[in-house]
Amino acid sequence: SRPVTLGSMVYFMSTLSVQLSKKYGSIFTVHFGPKKVVVLAGYKTVKQALVNQAEDFGDRDITPAFYDFNQGHGILFTNGDSWKEMRRFALTNLRDFGMGKKGSEEKILEEVPYLIEVLEKHEGKAFDTTQSVHHAVSNIISAIVYGSRFEYTDPLFTGMVDRVNENVHLIGSASIQMYNMFPWLGPWINNLTRLKKNVADLKMEVIELVRGLKETLNPHMCRGFVDSFLVRKQTLEESGKMDSFYHDDNLLFSIGNLFGAGTDTTGSTLRWGLLLMAKYPHIQDQVQEEISRVIGSRQTLVEDRKNLPYTDAVIHETQRLANIAPMAVPHTTSRDVTFQGYFIKKGTSVIPLLMSVLQDDNEWESPNTFNPSHFLDEQGGFVKRDAFMAFSAGRRVCLGEGLARMELFLFFTSLLQRFRFSPPPGVTEDDLDLTPSVGFTLHPSPHQLCAVSRV
Ligand code: HEM
Repeated sequence: SRPVTLGSMVYFMSTLSVQLSKKYGSIFTVHFGPKKVVVLAGYKTVKQALVNQAEDFGDRDITPAFYDFNQGHGILFTNGDSWKEMRRFALTNLRDFGMGKKGSEEKILEEVPYLIEVLEKHEGKAFDTTQSVHHAVSNIISAIVYGSRFEYTDPLFTGMVDRVNENVHLIGSASIQMYNMFPWLGPWINNLTRLKKNVADLKMEVIELVRGLKETLNPHMCRGFVDSFLVRKQTLEESGKMDSFYHDDNLLFSIGNLFGAGTDTTGSTLRWGLLLMAKYPHIQDQVQEEISRVIGSRQTLVEDRKNLPYTDAVIHETQRLANIAPMAVPHTTSRDVTFQGYFIKKGTSVIPLLMSVLQDDNEWESPNTFNPSHFLDEQGGFVKRDAFMAFSAGRRVCLGEGLARMELFLFFTSLLQRFRFSPPPGVTEDDLDLTPSVGFTLHPSPHQLCAVSRV
């Protein structure tokens, strides 16, 4: 299991909460400074709250840092009718320009050779996987949002990806957590100044990109989410409705949410997958054997997933162990709630402790080890597990789940088909560290891998 480091605040708090749940049960209150937070632990309790009482537990806790981040607009850190409309609109557009249809599969398959080319340039020498992987996954959501991918050398694009990565680290830092508890500390917190500057810079960059799309907008041929939003806004304005939710701030912050949530999460999960393959070469052997046997050298497609049960199990097990969103994103109760005999007031912060679900020892045979058999039956077929809640559940369930699953499958299989991943020379598999690094989501700690071409 992973040692706890204080630097990793979110990880520290979630690990501590898991330990508390062993002592106090599956529902308990903690005080973060003056703030009371109800923690829900274990599969049964988290499911009961998020799924069976979805309305009650379905609002977002908009902490001071979350407010600074999105100023009350967009999808991630909003509630009420505006959230409902923006979430619905984003889902429809992900479906139209990405998820579900051929669209996103094609976009991912178009991106795969670019990622392979970058990895090949390292010629088997050790390198940090962060940039290349994050650029590739970010281009998928970019293609859906803006209608086209970016070159990996485009400074505008690389700057945006770097800023998103930095923001995730800042939001999870101890000083920002302190700010959430004691907002009056704001002026003395350097990480907050840095976060606000990043948010302002990102906003300016998005404004420029949107301006370019506005100039070339063709209402009869939407290229992506932005076009679709602009057309809807224009139509509403033409019909005299000037006070709709389709305004510039909702557009800019929804773009920011999709780009941010779509880059960091999928990118770090894929990096966890490559790291785990280097750490457990016998599992990598089995993935590569399955891919060679079933696919050979042709490009893997989404429809191949059902014929690659072992690889699919490895991807799920990576997500389970990587546990990249250990506390989901905090919720609040939308009304007074009675839950498992406890009264919880409207507006109380609630943490659905996803880590305690993904490592629930009532649900998983070996919760703390990397064991793809968690998702395999005795005949080697893939089995779905209800306690696989990496994307959360209920009203706030990740809206990019379908897209993320497709990306993880296609990028992972394509990379494993092409490269053998191993620790740098002089580093043993045992030396590869699985301690997550500081951040709001759990990234692998800085490390290097070798990607040796198999063809
Ligand atoms: C929310 C996980 C990829 C967009 C969330 C939440 C989790 C999560 C745990 C919080 C749910 C809650 O509050 O209970 C993941 C993981 C991913 C991933 C593990 C990849 C491996 C993506 C992608 C997108 C995306 C690719 C972009 C399309 C969002 C958005 C929300 C969200 C917009 C906020 C939903 C809301 O507040 O209504 N995700 N996500 N995610 N995710 Fe993802």
